Amino acid sequence: MFLAFAVFSWASVFAEDDLPVPAEELVFCTVCHGVQLMGNSIIKAPRLSGMETWYVERQLKNFKNVVRGRHAEDPFGYEMQPMAESLSDEQVAEAAVFANATRSPAPPATVIGDIEKGKAHYSACAACHGVDGTGNEALGSPDLTIPNDWYLVTQLMNFKSGARGSHPSDTYGMQMRASAQLLADDDAIMNVVAYINTLQNK
Ligand code: HEC
Ligand code: HEC
Repeated sequence: MFLAFAVFSWASVFAEDDLPVPAEELVFCTVCHGVQLMGNSIIKAPRLSGMETWYVERQLKNFKNVVRGRHAEDPFGYEMQPMAESLSDEQVAEAAVFANATRSPAPPATVIGDIEKGKAHYSACAACHGVDGTGNEALGSPDLTIPNDWYLVTQLMNFKSGARGSHPSDTYGMQMRASAQLLADDDAIMNVVAYINTLQNK
């Protein structure tokens, strides 16, 4: 009964014809990332619905080449890293196109912080991620309004500690790592993510 209702409400927001069906070899992505890659907070697999093809491709290659996801202090990266290892280059490209085509409702806000303070912090982020948070392909900076807020928090902590972005081949991650140092502590991270939440559903 509940499932029938959930499917009905989803279809009322997104035309069914627009919702892509994963190729057989990509069905396993939905086991962790959810239907239409909507995200799963229990296993910390982020929402990927509508994510930029170029960004998904880079991350899958980074996981595959062990540039991301094998730092001792990155337990969730460890979950994802072996998943990308099995993908051929063609499947990486195919997965990126699939992720970009998926659609799901904007994720619920779960992070609580001081939005005004976060807005002040965000002025340093806007140069690369845009004033509206939707990213900049030329700079390699992803759209921050797509993933779940709890995932943004984990990534900012990871960049700050070096659990992400410290591999010598991770040139884009290194740039972000330097920027994460601008966030002095966990409060600053929560505040900036609380502000990024206000950019969703523009
Ligand atoms: C076993 C569970 C699991 C499976 C299966 C899985 N993932 Fe993931 N994935 C995760 C987790 C957990 C993370 C978060 C990693 C982190 O915190 O760094 C993640 C992260 C990612 C990211 C990084 C997103 C970002 O914003 O940087 C991409 C892209 C991704 N997964 C794509 C895929 C694709 C495509 C598939 C199928 C080929 C897949 N995943 C299968 C668990 C999984
Ligand atoms: C110099 C440009 C630059 C600045 C400034 C910058 N970023 Fe980034 N950011 C990047 C790049 C490039 C990436 C992609 C890294 C990669 O490919 O792994 C990124 C990735 C991220 C991610 C990971 C997204 C995901 O889906 O995994 C988050 C979160 C993030 N940035 C937040 C911020 C915040 C908050 C600020 C301000 C404090 C900021 N960034 C400032 C360039 C920048």
